[in-house]
Amino acid sequence: MKNFLSVGDVVNTELLAQQAIALKQNRFAFKHLGENKTMMLLFLNSSLRTRISTQKAAQNLGMNTIILNLNQDSWQMEYEDGAIMNGTSVEHIKEGAAVISEYADIIGIRAFPTLTDKEKDYSEYVLHKFLDNVKVPIVNMESATVHPLQSLTDLMTIREHTTKQNPKVVLSWAPHIKPLPQCVANSFAEWMNKSDVEFVITHPKGYELNEQFSGNASIIYKQEEAFENADFIYAKNWSSYADYGQIIGEHNDWKITDKKMQLTNNAKFMHCLPTRRNVEVADDVLDSNYSLVIKQAANREFAAQAVIKNILSSNE
Ligand code: CP
Repeated sequence: MKNFLSVGDVVNTELLAQQAIALKQNRFAFKHLGENKTMMLLFLNSSLRTRISTQKAAQNLGMNTIILNLNQDSWQMEYEDGAIMNGTSVEHIKEGAAVISEYADIIGIRAFPTLTDKEKDYSEYVLHKFLDNVKVPIVNMESATVHPLQSLTDLMTIREHTTKQNPKVVLSWAPHIKPLPQCVANSFAEWMNKSDVEFVITHPKGYELNEQFSGNASIIYKQEEAFENADFIYAKNWSSYADYGQIIGEHNDWKITDKKMQLTNNAKFMHCLPTRRNVEVADDVLDSNYSLVIKQAANREFAAQAVIKNILSSNE
Protein backbone atom coordinates (compact mmCIF):
# COMPACT_ATOMS: atom_id res chain seq x y z
CA MET A 1 0.00 0.00 0.00
CA LYS A 2 1.63 3.29 -1.08
CA ASN A 3 -0.99 5.72 0.24
CA PHE A 4 -4.29 5.24 2.08
CA LEU A 5 -6.56 7.84 0.53
CA SER A 6 -9.75 5.85 -0.03
CA VAL A 7 -11.07 2.34 -0.56
CA GLY A 8 -9.38 2.56 -3.96
CA ASP A 9 -6.05 1.87 -2.24
CA VAL A 10 -7.34 -1.38 -0.74
CA VAL A 11 -7.22 -4.63 -2.72
CA ASN A 12 -9.43 -6.62 -0.33
CA THR A 13 -11.49 -4.79 2.32
CA GLU A 14 -12.44 -7.98 4.18
CA LEU A 15 -8.81 -9.10 4.40
CA LEU A 16 -7.68 -5.72 5.75
CA ALA A 17 -10.48 -5.84 8.35
CA GLN A 18 -9.28 -9.31 9.43
CA GLN A 19 -5.71 -7.98 9.70
CA ALA A 20 -6.99 -5.21 11.98
CA ILE A 21 -8.86 -7.75 14.14
CA ALA A 22 -5.72 -9.89 14.38
CA LEU A 23 -3.63 -6.90 15.55
CA LYS A 24 -5.91 -6.55 18.57
CA GLN A 25 -4.50 -9.78 19.97
CA ASN A 26 -0.91 -8.56 19.86
CA ARG A 27 -0.65 -4.86 19.14
CA PHE A 28 3.09 -4.62 19.84
CA ALA A 29 4.18 -7.57 17.66
CA PHE A 30 5.39 -5.32 14.82
CA LYS A 31 7.15 -2.62 16.86
CA HIS A 32 10.33 -3.12 14.82
CA LEU A 33 8.59 -1.91 11.63
CA GLY A 34 8.36 1.70 12.75
CA GLU A 35 11.57 1.97 14.74
CA ASN A 36 13.37 5.30 14.09
CA LYS A 37 10.51 6.44 11.84
CA THR A 38 8.18 9.40 12.31
CA MET A 39 4.49 9.79 11.60
CA MET A 40 3.34 13.39 11.26
CA LEU A 41 -0.38 13.98 11.95
CA LEU A 42 -1.68 17.20 10.39
CA PHE A 43 -5.06 18.49 11.51
CA LEU A 44 -6.84 21.30 9.69
CA ASN A 45 -9.99 20.42 11.71
CA SER A 46 -10.95 19.18 15.19
CA SER A 47 -10.74 15.55 16.22
CA LEU A 48 -10.86 13.34 19.29
CA ARG A 49 -10.88 9.72 18.08
CA THR A 50 -8.78 10.06 14.94
CA ARG A 51 -6.10 12.09 16.68
CA ILE A 52 -5.64 9.74 19.62
CA SER A 53 -6.18 6.40 17.88
CA THR A 54 -3.87 7.16 14.94
CA GLN A 55 -1.14 8.41 17.25
CA LYS A 56 -1.51 5.31 19.39
CA ALA A 57 -1.49 3.04 16.32
CA ALA A 58 1.77 4.57 15.06
CA GLN A 59 3.32 4.29 18.52
CA ASN A 60 2.23 0.63 18.80
CA LEU A 61 4.30 0.07 15.65
CA GLY A 62 7.34 1.75 17.22
CA MET A 63 7.02 5.10 15.41
CA ASN A 64 7.63 8.56 16.80
CA THR A 65 4.63 10.82 16.31
CA ILE A 66 4.25 14.56 15.88
CA ILE A 67 0.84 16.24 15.86
CA LEU A 68 0.45 19.65 14.21
CA ASN A 69 -2.76 21.70 14.14
CA LEU A 70 -2.07 23.28 10.78
CA ASN A 71 -2.98 26.99 10.48
CA GLN A 72 -3.52 27.22 14.27
CA ASP A 73 -0.03 26.21 15.40
CA SER A 74 1.84 26.90 12.18
CA TRP A 75 1.73 29.56 9.45
CA GLN A 76 -1.46 30.11 7.44
CA MET A 77 -1.10 27.97 4.30
CA GLU A 78 -1.75 29.14 0.74
CA TYR A 79 -2.87 26.46 -1.76
CA GLU A 80 -3.45 28.35 -5.03
CA ASP A 81 -0.84 28.12 -7.76
CA GLY A 82 0.42 31.53 -8.81
CA ALA A 83 -1.05 33.27 -5.75
CA ILE A 84 0.23 36.75 -4.96
CA MET A 85 0.61 36.25 -1.24
CA ASN A 86 -0.07 39.76 -0.01
CA GLY A 87 -2.99 38.71 2.24
CA THR A 88 -3.29 36.51 5.34
CA SER A 89 -1.51 33.40 3.98
CA VAL A 90 2.15 33.26 4.96
CA GLU A 91 3.43 29.93 3.61
CA HIS A 92 2.71 28.23 0.28
CA ILE A 93 1.84 24.53 0.16
CA LYS A 94 4.78 24.02 -2.22
CA GLU A 95 7.26 24.82 0.55
CA GLY A 96 5.07 23.89 3.54
CA ALA A 97 4.26 20.34 2.44
CA ALA A 98 7.75 19.76 1.05
CA VAL A 99 9.32 20.80 4.38
CA ILE A 100 6.93 18.60 6.42
CA SER A 101 7.80 15.74 4.09
CA GLU A 102 11.50 16.14 5.01
CA TYR A 103 10.68 15.44 8.68
CA ALA A 104 8.23 12.55 8.22
CA ASP A 105 8.14 8.96 6.98
CA ILE A 106 4.33 8.94 6.79
CA ILE A 107 1.95 11.92 6.89
CA GLY A 108 -1.65 11.75 8.12
CA ILE A 109 -3.94 14.59 7.03
CA ARG A 110 -7.40 15.72 8.11
CA ALA A 111 -8.92 18.36 5.82
CA PHE A 112 -12.71 18.76 5.81
CA PRO A 113 -14.76 20.11 2.88
CA THR A 114 -15.83 23.72 2.47
CA LEU A 115 -19.47 22.58 1.93
CA THR A 116 -19.79 25.68 -0.29
CA ASP A 117 -17.64 24.73 -3.31
CA LYS A 118 -18.84 21.33 -4.50
CA GLU A 119 -16.41 21.07 -7.40
CA LYS A 120 -13.39 21.91 -5.26
CA ASP A 121 -14.46 19.59 -2.44
CA TYR A 122 -15.18 16.63 -4.73
CA SER A 123 -11.81 17.10 -6.47
CA GLU A 124 -10.19 16.59 -3.02
CA TYR A 125 -8.37 19.85 -3.60
CA VAL A 126 -6.41 20.10 -0.31
CA LEU A 127 -5.52 16.40 -0.11
CA HIS A 128 -4.19 16.45 -3.66
CA LYS A 129 -2.19 19.63 -3.03
CA PHE A 130 -0.38 17.73 -0.28
CA LEU A 131 0.04 14.64 -2.46
CA ASP A 132 1.61 16.76 -5.19
CA ASN A 133 4.19 18.24 -2.85
CA VAL A 134 5.33 15.41 -0.54
CA LYS A 135 7.70 12.49 -1.05
CA VAL A 136 6.25 10.16 1.60
CA PRO A 137 3.01 8.13 1.92
CA ILE A 138 -0.18 9.89 3.00
CA VAL A 139 -2.93 8.50 5.24
CA ASN A 140 -6.32 10.18 4.86
CA MET A 141 -7.64 11.00 8.34
CA GLU A 142 -10.92 12.38 6.82
CA SER A 143 -10.88 14.54 3.76
CA ALA A 144 -13.46 16.49 1.79
CA THR A 145 -15.34 13.41 0.56
CA VAL A 146 -14.28 10.30 2.52
CA HIS A 147 -13.16 8.93 5.90
CA PRO A 148 -11.54 5.58 5.10
CA LEU A 149 -9.96 4.93 8.52
CA GLN A 150 -13.47 5.16 9.97
CA SER A 151 -14.91 2.85 7.31
CA LEU A 152 -12.26 0.19 7.87
CA THR A 153 -13.05 0.37 11.59
CA ASP A 154 -16.74 0.00 10.78
CA LEU A 155 -16.22 -3.10 8.64
CA MET A 156 -13.95 -4.59 11.30
CA THR A 157 -16.59 -3.95 13.98
CA ILE A 158 -19.33 -5.49 11.85
CA ARG A 159 -17.23 -8.63 11.31
CA GLU A 160 -16.55 -8.92 15.05
CA HIS A 161 -20.28 -8.81 15.84
CA THR A 162 -21.80 -11.17 13.30
CA THR A 163 -21.37 -14.74 12.22
CA LYS A 164 -23.42 -14.13 9.06
CA GLN A 165 -21.58 -14.07 5.75
CA ASN A 166 -23.91 -11.39 4.33
CA PRO A 167 -25.48 -9.42 7.19
CA LYS A 168 -28.03 -6.73 6.36
CA VAL A 169 -26.37 -3.35 7.05
CA VAL A 170 -28.50 -0.19 6.94
CA LEU A 171 -26.99 3.29 6.72
CA SER A 172 -29.62 5.66 8.07
CA TRP A 173 -29.60 9.43 7.75
CA ALA A 174 -30.39 11.07 11.11
CA PRO A 175 -31.19 14.71 11.96
CA HIS A 176 -28.67 17.35 13.04
CA ILE A 177 -28.76 21.05 13.83
CA LYS A 178 -26.13 22.08 11.28
CA PRO A 179 -24.94 20.96 7.85
CA LEU A 180 -22.33 18.19 8.06
CA PRO A 181 -20.05 16.74 5.36
CA GLN A 182 -21.06 13.66 3.37
CA CYS A 183 -17.63 12.05 4.05
CA VAL A 184 -18.55 9.35 6.56
CA ALA A 185 -21.65 8.30 4.61
CA ASN A 186 -19.83 8.34 1.25
CA SER A 187 -16.99 6.33 2.64
CA PHE A 188 -19.15 3.84 4.53
CA ALA A 189 -21.16 3.29 1.33
CA GLU A 190 -18.16 2.62 -0.88
CA TRP A 191 -16.63 0.24 1.68
CA MET A 192 -19.90 -1.67 2.14
CA ASN A 193 -20.29 -1.90 -1.63
CA LYS A 194 -16.89 -3.62 -1.80
CA SER A 195 -17.59 -5.98 1.12
CA ASP A 196 -19.76 -9.04 1.74
CA VAL A 197 -22.92 -7.43 3.10
CA GLU A 198 -26.49 -6.69 2.00
CA PHE A 199 -26.32 -2.90 1.96
CA VAL A 200 -29.27 -0.51 2.23
CA ILE A 201 -29.27 3.29 2.53
CA THR A 202 -32.26 5.15 3.95
CA HIS A 203 -32.69 8.93 3.96
CA PRO A 204 -35.30 11.60 3.21
CA LYS A 205 -35.63 12.64 -0.42
CA GLY A 206 -33.01 15.22 -1.34
CA TYR A 207 -30.21 13.57 0.65
CA GLU A 208 -29.07 11.21 -2.13
CA LEU A 209 -25.31 10.66 -2.01
CA ASN A 210 -23.14 11.07 -5.08
CA GLU A 211 -23.71 7.86 -7.09
CA GLN A 212 -19.95 7.35 -7.27
CA PHE A 213 -20.25 6.37 -3.58
CA SER A 214 -23.77 4.94 -3.21
CA GLY A 215 -23.18 2.66 -6.21
CA ASN A 216 -25.64 -0.22 -6.37
CA ALA A 217 -26.90 0.09 -2.79
CA SER A 218 -30.67 -0.21 -2.30
CA ILE A 219 -32.12 3.22 -1.50
CA ILE A 220 -35.28 3.14 0.64
CA TYR A 221 -36.99 6.42 1.50
CA LYS A 222 -39.09 4.95 4.35
CA GLN A 223 -36.79 4.55 7.35
CA GLU A 224 -38.98 2.03 9.19
CA GLU A 225 -39.26 -0.19 6.10
CA ALA A 226 -35.45 -0.10 5.68
CA PHE A 227 -34.97 -1.18 9.31
CA GLU A 228 -36.90 -4.45 8.85
CA ASN A 229 -34.61 -7.48 9.29
CA ALA A 230 -31.52 -5.30 9.66
CA ASP A 231 -28.55 -6.78 11.52
CA PHE A 232 -26.74 -3.44 11.83
CA ILE A 233 -28.07 0.12 11.90
CA TYR A 234 -25.40 2.73 11.15
CA ALA A 235 -26.66 6.25 11.83
CA LYS A 236 -25.13 9.42 10.47
CA ASN A 237 -26.23 12.88 9.46
CA TRP A 238 -25.06 14.43 6.22
CA SER A 239 -26.00 17.56 4.30
CA SER A 240 -27.46 17.47 0.80
CA TYR A 241 -25.15 16.65 -2.10
CA ALA A 242 -27.59 17.86 -4.78
CA ASP A 243 -28.37 21.14 -2.97
CA TYR A 244 -24.77 21.22 -1.91
CA GLY A 245 -24.08 21.59 1.80
CA GLN A 246 -27.69 22.50 2.68
CA ILE A 247 -30.19 21.14 5.23
CA ILE A 248 -33.46 20.44 3.44
CA GLY A 249 -36.69 20.65 5.44
CA GLU A 250 -37.49 19.40 8.95
CA HIS A 251 -36.87 15.70 9.52
CA ASN A 252 -36.69 15.38 13.30
CA ASP A 253 -38.78 12.21 13.01
CA TRP A 254 -35.69 10.50 11.52
CA LYS A 255 -33.98 10.41 14.96
CA ILE A 256 -32.92 6.85 15.88
CA THR A 257 -34.99 5.56 18.80
CA ASP A 258 -35.27 2.27 20.65
CA LYS A 259 -38.79 1.87 19.23
CA LYS A 260 -37.37 1.92 15.69
CA MET A 261 -34.55 -0.45 16.65
CA GLN A 262 -37.25 -2.96 17.72
CA LEU A 263 -38.25 -3.25 14.03
CA THR A 264 -34.88 -4.83 13.22
CA ASN A 265 -33.46 -8.32 13.58
CA ASN A 266 -32.01 -7.45 17.03
CA ALA A 267 -29.66 -5.12 15.21
CA LYS A 268 -26.52 -3.67 16.68
CA PHE A 269 -26.32 0.12 16.61
CA MET A 270 -23.32 1.95 15.16
CA HIS A 271 -22.23 5.59 14.84
CA CYS A 272 -18.78 7.04 14.11
CA LEU A 273 -19.15 9.66 16.89
CA PRO A 274 -19.33 12.40 17.94
CA THR A 275 -23.12 12.42 18.04
CA ARG A 276 -25.60 14.91 19.46
CA ARG A 277 -27.69 12.95 21.95
CA ASN A 278 -31.47 13.16 21.50
CA VAL A 279 -31.06 15.02 18.20
CA GLU A 280 -29.49 12.32 16.00
CA VAL A 281 -29.85 9.39 18.40
CA ALA A 282 -31.97 8.88 21.54
CA ASP A 283 -30.38 8.16 24.92
CA ASP A 284 -32.11 4.78 25.06
CA VAL A 285 -30.21 3.67 21.94
CA LEU A 286 -26.78 5.03 22.88
CA ASP A 287 -27.11 3.59 26.41
CA SER A 288 -28.47 0.23 25.29
CA ASN A 289 -26.62 -3.06 25.36
CA TYR A 290 -26.95 -3.28 21.55
CA SER A 291 -24.96 -0.08 20.99
CA LEU A 292 -21.46 -0.69 19.64
CA VAL A 293 -20.33 2.94 19.56
CA ILE A 294 -17.62 2.67 22.24
CA LYS A 295 -16.27 -0.64 20.92
CA GLN A 296 -16.33 0.88 17.44
CA ALA A 297 -14.29 3.88 18.61
CA ALA A 298 -11.83 1.57 20.38
CA ASN A 299 -11.32 -0.29 17.10
CA ARG A 300 -10.05 2.89 15.45
CA GLU A 301 -6.63 2.14 16.95
CA PHE A 302 -6.36 -1.26 15.26
CA ALA A 303 -7.77 -0.16 11.93
CA ALA A 304 -5.20 2.65 11.79
CA GLN A 305 -2.52 0.20 12.85
CA ALA A 306 -3.41 -2.24 10.04
CA VAL A 307 -3.10 0.60 7.52
CA ILE A 308 0.18 2.01 8.86
CA LYS A 309 1.63 -1.51 9.11
CA ASN A 310 0.77 -2.14 5.45
CA ILE A 311 2.44 1.11 4.39
CA LEU A 312 5.56 0.44 6.50
CA SER A 313 5.81 -3.11 5.13
CA SER A 314 5.46 -1.88 1.53
CA ASN A 315 8.29 0.61 2.02
CA GLU A 316 10.72 -1.71 3.86
N1 CP B 1 -15.18 9.52 14.13
C1 CP B 1 -14.19 10.43 14.12
O1 CP B 1 -13.45 10.59 13.13
O2 CP B 1 -14.05 11.11 15.29
P1 CP B 1 -13.16 12.42 15.47
O3 CP B 1 -13.75 13.48 14.56
O4 CP B 1 -13.27 12.77 16.92
O5 CP B 1 -11.76 12.10 15.07
